[in-house]
Amino acid sequence: MSFPLLEAQGLILRFGTTTALDDVGIAVHPGEVVAIVGESGSGKSTLLRVLSGQLVPAAGQVTYRDAQGQPHLLHEMGEAALRRLMRTDWGFVHQNARDGLRMGVSAGGNVGERLMAIGARHYGDIRAQATEWLRRVEIDEARIDHLPRTFSGGMQQRLQIARTLVSRPRLVFMDEPTGGLDVSVQARLLDLIRGLASELNIAVLLVTHDIAAARLLAHRLMVMRHGRVVEQGLTDRVLDDPQHPYTQLLVSSVLAA
Ligand SMILES: Nc1ncnc2c1ncn2[C@@H]1O[C@H](COP(=O)(O)OP(=O)(O)OP(=O)(O)O)[C@@H](O)[C@H]1O
Ligand SMILES: [Mg+2]
Repeated sequence: MSFPLLEAQGLILRFGTTTALDDVGIAVHPGEVVAIVGESGSGKSTLLRVLSGQLVPAAGQVTYRDAQGQPHLLHEMGEAALRRLMRTDWGFVHQNARDGLRMGVSAGGNVGERLMAIGARHYGDIRAQATEWLRRVEIDEARIDHLPRTFSGGMQQRLQIARTLVSRPRLVFMDEPTGGLDVSVQARLLDLIRGLASELNIAVLLVTHDIAAARLLAHRLMVMRHGRVVEQGLTDRVLDDPQHPYTQLLVSSVLAA
């Protein structure tokens, strides 16, 4: 059994009188897709922000393990190291593609820029890799010099995925990556994410309130409510045989919908 890429215990975070995280722990192993589900306000995005170093918890710790297997306490790494981590070993896919793309830079530039950030210098190679990644996310390479704002929502999201994955991260955080897209577009995007994550052996920590998306993508599921993890386990086990009354409600409300 390999070491987890990311591990956290005892996370607590409050916003005023709201306890957004109440003693949360998690572990994500290489190549594993873990979905975090739960109602609005349950703390999913807060957890992702703490795990990705954007928010510092009041208590608890997050351990990141580098490619050599060395553990590092995330909140002691310092800003520069954290930014480097986000460009190399980790990636973040935002719900709103505009938060993850540079809208004033061409599609090819959005992808190529990430390669340059990790040291690529040869223009021809960068262009070739950008072209290859557009193909992988099903964007016509004739659009390579176009600005993302001329793209549909689904295309923008696929471009954001290409920009994130081109540097071959080992762990990618995704917060509602299909939120706000048409249902047919969502299905295609989920398929694409699933294919790429499995082909490249990328671990994904996916926040969603779409149980069907979690079922499709995730090996493991964590159910959150009021800042606590009420249930977790293998996706099929949790969804087919939910133990906690809240999970039972969540699953049955999806079936009834
Ligand atoms: N910046 C903030 N300031 C104050 N309260 C916040 C802030 N961010 C989140 N909260 C509160 O913390 C709790 C958890 O919020 P969070 O955004 O993590 O929920 P969520 O599960 O991601 O919900 P959603 O499904 O709506 O995105 C909520 O009660 C929310 O109102
Ligand atoms: Mg959220």
